[in-house]
Amino acid sequence: MPVLNITGGPVSGTIRAHGAKNSILPILAATLLNRDVSVITNCPDLADVRSSLKILRHLGCKAEYADGTVTVDSSGVTRADIPEALMREMRSSVIFLGAVLARTGRADMSRPGGCELGTRPIDLHLAALKSMGAELSENGSDISCRASRLTGTEIILSFPSVGATENIMIAACAADGVTTVKNAAREPEIEDLQAYLRAMGADVTGGGTSTVCINGCMDKLRGAEHRVMPDRIETATYLCAAAMAGGRVTVEDAVPEHNSAVLSALSEAGCEISARRGAISLKRYKPLRPVRPVRTMPYPGFPTDAQSPLMSVCTRAGGVTVFTENIFESRFRHVGELARMGADIRIEGRVAVVFGVNKLYGARVKCEDLRGGAALVVAALGTEGVTTISHLTHIDRGYANLTENLTALGVNITRTP
Ligand code: UD1
Repeated sequence: MPVLNITGGPVSGTIRAHGAKNSILPILAATLLNRDVSVITNCPDLADVRSSLKILRHLGCKAEYADGTVTVDSSGVTRADIPEALMREMRSSVIFLGAVLARTGRADMSRPGGCELGTRPIDLHLAALKSMGAELSENGSDISCRASRLTGTEIILSFPSVGATENIMIAACAADGVTTVKNAAREPEIEDLQAYLRAMGADVTGGGTSTVCINGCMDKLRGAEHRVMPDRIETATYLCAAAMAGGRVTVEDAVPEHNSAVLSALSEAGCEISARRGAISLKRYKPLRPVRPVRTMPYPGFPTDAQSPLMSVCTRAGGVTVFTENIFESRFRHVGELARMGADIRIEGRVAVVFGVNKLYGARVKCEDLRGGAALVVAALGTEGVTTISHLTHIDRGYANLTENLTALGVNITRTP
């Protein structure tokens, strides 16, 4: 099993954020809407991207990856089913539901099922497609969707689900008339999907606000070129890494306003942050301070994906920081591993109370999920000694070139095969 060996110590240097994993997946699903060639640039080489390409190929597309560019020729779609093995490779494969239905009038797939973050229901996705006229039948974990035509309607989400908003936006491109999504997710990735849909010729407005309107015009859609927005969670992770290690780091190709909540927490923690268009720099030479209570919320609130990396930083702060996880039910699985490194954290339901300690120690720890794994890397940079991190498949889902990037920042890190 491959492991990372990381020695703690200060960092210094400049790295560049990759394209956002969470943007690429819905955009790749949306390539099914046209019968043409789409070119998606700024794509990192990540396991989830490769899984999405496998799904596209299974459906009959030609999909290639080379040097950060994905080319999808979706003229030859022949199938409407996604086998369970492919669904299981990537929980977010549910994003293909709306796209396959829009393209073929049917979709057969299994429920993505629970994951390390909890049960992760898809009721909002299914209810929305139903209200647009899709017929759904379920047999155990298998879902069949049929819709000879979808009809635009008003959909009010009971929670601003990112995936449900994206699925509706994609399916609504094939609907007759206007679909309005109220209480839509406002995450920047929604705006990025909107940008790609518009480049294809779709009539979509309001992406990034709580009301998104889609006027279906499937016949007009054509292939398009799109550059994926920078990954705000990857950026936040490297900024947390620098905050923990001390020193300075600049992340280029970052969008400061996408990370406002994280930047404000890091500056409370004692970091000096300067943001200019396209780059964020962070310096930390003073001791870390605790942060006011951190509550994860839909965007523009504090992102759940940055909760665990920031928690690692707070383990070394001179005081107590309280974290409340409001988005996913099971998102403190990194806490037990941080405790092995000497962190003092108590959990009560959705609340984690972090009592800062003077020192963390190198230990053998394992990634329990993607962002929890990133939190261990962040913690390792603030330890005395060497930390060995195993179960890297989780981290590999979201962080391309992690070893190279940290090496560029002066970190003593090796990955054993
Ligand atoms: C996306 C991101 C993930 C991020 C999350 C919240 C991708 C590929 N993943 O996940 O990294 O952490 O947004 O910012 O973009 N829910 C329901 N019913 C549904 C759908 C969601 O109850 O039908 C619940 C979920 O269980 C969860 C909450 O809503 O508790 C948020 O989920 P959602 O916003 O849909 O997250 P994802 O799109 O799965």
